[in-house]
Amino acid sequence: MDTGDQQITARMDGLIEELNSMNTSYAQGTPEVSDQTYDALYETLLQLEREHPDLVRADSPTLRVGSDLSADLPEVPHTIPVLSLDKAYAESAITSWMERIEKRVEQQLSFVIEEKIDGVSIVLYYEDGLLVRAVTRGNGYVGNDVTSNVRTIREVPLRLKRAVTVAVRGEIFLTREDFRQLNSTMEIEYANPRNLTAGTIRRIRSSEVARLPLRIFVYEGFFSDGQMQPETHAGLLDDLRLLGFIINPRYHICSSSDALTGYLEDAARERGSLPYEIDGLVIKVNEFPVRESLGYTGHHPRWAIAYKFEAPMAESVVTAIDVQIGRTGRATPVARIEPVLIGGSTVSNVTLHNQDYVELLELCIGDTVSVSKRGDVIPAVERVIEKNEQGNRLWHMPERCPSCGGPLIRQGAHHFCTDHDCPDQVYGRLTFFVGKGQMDIDGLGSETIRTLISRKLARDPADLYHIDYEQLISEPGFGPKKVQQISKSIRESLDRPYEVVLRSLGIPEVGKKASQLLIKSGIRSIDQLIELAQHGEVEQLTGIRGFGEKTAQTIIREFSDPAVLEQIEELKAVGLSFCEQQSEQPALPQVFTDQVWCVTGSFEHYQPRSIAEKLIEARGGRVVSSVTGKTTHLLAGSSAGSKLAKAQKLGVRIVAEQEFTTMLEDVPQ
Ligand code: IVH
Repeated sequence: MDTGDQQITARMDGLIEELNSMNTSYAQGTPEVSDQTYDALYETLLQLEREHPDLVRADSPTLRVGSDLSADLPEVPHTIPVLSLDKAYAESAITSWMERIEKRVEQQLSFVIEEKIDGVSIVLYYEDGLLVRAVTRGNGYVGNDVTSNVRTIREVPLRLKRAVTVAVRGEIFLTREDFRQLNSTMEIEYANPRNLTAGTIRRIRSSEVARLPLRIFVYEGFFSDGQMQPETHAGLLDDLRLLGFIINPRYHICSSSDALTGYLEDAARERGSLPYEIDGLVIKVNEFPVRESLGYTGHHPRWAIAYKFEAPMAESVVTAIDVQIGRTGRATPVARIEPVLIGGSTVSNVTLHNQDYVELLELCIGDTVSVSKRGDVIPAVERVIEKNEQGNRLWHMPERCPSCGGPLIRQGAHHFCTDHDCPDQVYGRLTFFVGKGQMDIDGLGSETIRTLISRKLARDPADLYHIDYEQLISEPGFGPKKVQQISKSIRESLDRPYEVVLRSLGIPEVGKKASQLLIKSGIRSIDQLIELAQHGEVEQLTGIRGFGEKTAQTIIREFSDPAVLEQIEELKAVGLSFCEQQSEQPALPQVFTDQVWCVTGSFEHYQPRSIAEKLIEARGGRVVSSVTGKTTHLLAGSSAGSKLAKAQKLGVRIVAEQEFTTMLEDVPQ
């Protein structure tokens, strides 16, 4: 570079520094200079750059104006997993989520509550401090490259205060006021600020984007190894601010679930007075080591949850109310409604829980109701919007069971059919026992079970093991192939481990998780469990992590009930396993339960790599040989090749050897 160039570069550097600093104070709401002063400096820089195009810096604020070059929006892969959040609609659901985490984690922890900005999600990629790419969320693995548009946003730093390599997640939005003003000048008006922001960010001409006062708040940062490792989320937000980003200052640190009371509902009430739109709050575990130990499900981090202000809702008419009898005899009223689309699926049946709930709603057949779907959970009738005009009265639970005709008796909040032989109860018991999540007996589908019940061949699960299926060959629906299949799967089911048998008994509160926890706590046989129940050992049960008072009391009641004990005896007699097989090693904490791991590359400490695979399996994880959409973790050693690339593409969590070793050691007990 000659001396002339050096002088010009120094001049440009000075201008860029000044303009960037003005930009920051502008973005933070404390402008240092008038717009005219800013514009004059800006013009000077622009002039210099026109004269010396080879000296233009990649982080020059003039690049924010964008070009008029037309370009498609190419698809680019994300190099970090861009996950979404699990959601809940009730404060109680949020507090119980927090309590679950507090129970799981031994150390003192805190939560950060942020506003959930209703804008457009963006990932900003910086390399050595320079903005190199801005990518929309897309499907979480691949997004659209909108770099030139995002460069026009004054609040997005083009160069960070430190030369770090980092991916930053944030939300681009328009304030209500800016939206109102802009929208009034549009030919076609947008429904809300979010839609206008989304439309703008995807424009082909970035000069059109530059005209809009888009804003950004950033809320997550993923630093390249070894660079800036804040211990907490609050620390990360500080770091991001110091690097030059705008973070939403309206966040709240909450020391425990108890301290949350009322906060969420207050926030929901106050949202209308904010200058921008929010559609909920996000609650995040503050401590990063705890986040790591909680991990991820396929799509969501376990360490954060969204509290959404409104559930998807639709209106429909109740055409009938039927009563369903479950396997325990419980009678549940179900509203049949005219089919409506809610949150992406058609709903035509909605549970009404019990008589009290119907009374609370003051619900009659023919009423128009609003139906919500909270999260991906079961739909619920929220309220009656319009009473029916046919003069129908409040619905009442019938006196007799619709299945067996016996009396329905009220016990607590619910009504029950008390006849153990009621066909619907028998059907419920048997289909549950043979179902996929339980004994998984192939060939015994719902029609087959109905036939066995109507022939009076099966009443309890143990009966399924006494039937001579060969004798049914001539019956409709029981060809030789079918009979062979049933006999084979019945035989195979005798080998199911105790844990599976236990959860298949259908005892309230004793599902998959509880069965595992009971066994892990050392209660390794049904006889031990029965003895404990008969001695009323509540404390031994509440001492198990994840077991509350209610679970303990239910277990004690159920395993003291003569009918349950008789059912167990019968199943013992047919040869099912009621005792956990002794393994030489003490059971390890099943920290990798529900995780699907793939192992690739070579390792310093796990040689051959089947050692690592065994370690994963011993902690409840499943090991597969290739990376697919179902894989949750890739353990990547040195010279990991195509599997690593595929995992990155699919957003699979990538774990290096050292981190893996820590995961094995840092297990919550
Ligand atoms: S955290 C892994 N924080 O809400 C962390 N998200 O599904 C995931 N959003 O796609 C996101 N404000 O676009 C987070 N303060 C905030 C947010 C926020 C808005 C959006 C984001 C994400 C969606 C959640």
